Amino acid sequence: MRDVAVIGIGITKFGELWWQNLRELYVEAALKAIKDAGVDHLDSMYVGCMTSGLFCAQEHLASLMADYLGQRHIPAYRIESACASGGLAFRLGYIEVASGMSDIVLVGGVEKMLTGADATFALASAADQEYEAFHGNTFPGLYAMIARAHMAKYGTTREQMAAVAVKNHDNGSKNPNAQFPMKISKETVLNATPVADPLGLFDCSPVSDGAAAVILCPVDMAKKYTDTIIKVIGSGAATSTIALHQRDDITFLDAVHAAGKKAYEMAGLKPEDIDFAEVHDCFTIAEICCIEALGFCEVGQGGPFSEAGNTALDGKIPINTSGGLKSKGHPVGATGVAQIVELVEQLRGTAGERQVKNAKRGLAQNMGGSGGSSVVHILEVQ
Ligand code: COA
Repeated sequence: MRDVAVIGIGITKFGELWWQNLRELYVEAALKAIKDAGVDHLDSMYVGCMTSGLFCAQEHLASLMADYLGQRHIPAYRIESACASGGLAFRLGYIEVASGMSDIVLVGGVEKMLTGADATFALASAADQEYEAFHGNTFPGLYAMIARAHMAKYGTTREQMAAVAVKNHDNGSKNPNAQFPMKISKETVLNATPVADPLGLFDCSPVSDGAAAVILCPVDMAKKYTDTIIKVIGSGAATSTIALHQRDDITFLDAVHAAGKKAYEMAGLKPEDIDFAEVHDCFTIAEICCIEALGFCEVGQGGPFSEAGNTALDGKIPINTSGGLKSKGHPVGATGVAQIVELVEQLRGTAGERQVKNAKRGLAQNMGGSGGSSVVHILEVQ
């Protein structure tokens, strides 16, 4: 296997982007990444997208995007793993370059969710249709069950979950691409409109439009394009049951744990070797469960660990420096690639006000549905 570097990044603003359609979002991010990398061609392309069919009535996405990007005739693939589509696309692009099959690969992620389509219905297609969605369950509903179980088992409180939202909005206020860049207080979270008990509006990531893209190439070739080599040193992916009732313990995200373990083993690292991480905070309780499954704190202690400030920008392990899904936004297929964009910004030292001091190694964890799939990557600046 060849060593692989990320040499270009591009991202659109996230939010309600009524003036941009699906392909325009994708192409904006892809062109920014191509320009940033300084490459003059692509060998192949991966497009992460969850459900353009339900949101935009558009399938056959890889060819459409390659053509619209002016790259007709390159091989292009659309990757779907619910909200982990972008992270999985990145993994497959990485594998293609590492294998020697291609040298310059673009990995993009996109979702256009604000189209008038029923977002709750479309998103619920990532749950178990027959056992969950058919009976009226939704993603806020499924994560509310996880939250209630976590509260009952470990004594996690609403205040501890609120601390996650407050911290992510604080980070998002420093990100010009964030959908909801306002700072919020704990009281705002606790007094917000209930969505699915115990989760309120500010415990939830929003419905968003947006796209992100990165360019990968072998490390040996990367030296031609940049002096700052950012190498992929760990990659792990795993699956679990998509239905919650089939899990032994719904408070523990076993696919996240398994994907993280593989990525740590590949990199030869432990959780304490990571300087900062982007994790999948689709709901505040999800961030708590993810940091536990990735080993950043003890299982069951994610609530107090977060409330004590350990995950803040200047904390022990800064989590979701971009603002996370909560504040930056969550155009589902784009999210996994956007996490890599944030890692690269931090490792290049170009994250501005939200820069983590001495950031050398970052971890990105992307998750499908209520944990039915997960992908973890570790990047290091050389
Ligand atoms: N956080 C903060 N503010 C939000 C928000 C969020 N997640 N979602 C919407 N808002 C704001 C809107 O800007 C709007 O503000 P305004 O009245 O000042 O203009 C207001 O709240 C109402 O917005 P609206 O779009 O009508 O909200 P909604 O009730 O239709 O949707 C949720 C709110 C939480 C139900 C929706 O964002 C949601 O379903 N989120 C979860 C998405 C999801 O499941 N993703 C997949 C995860 S696995």
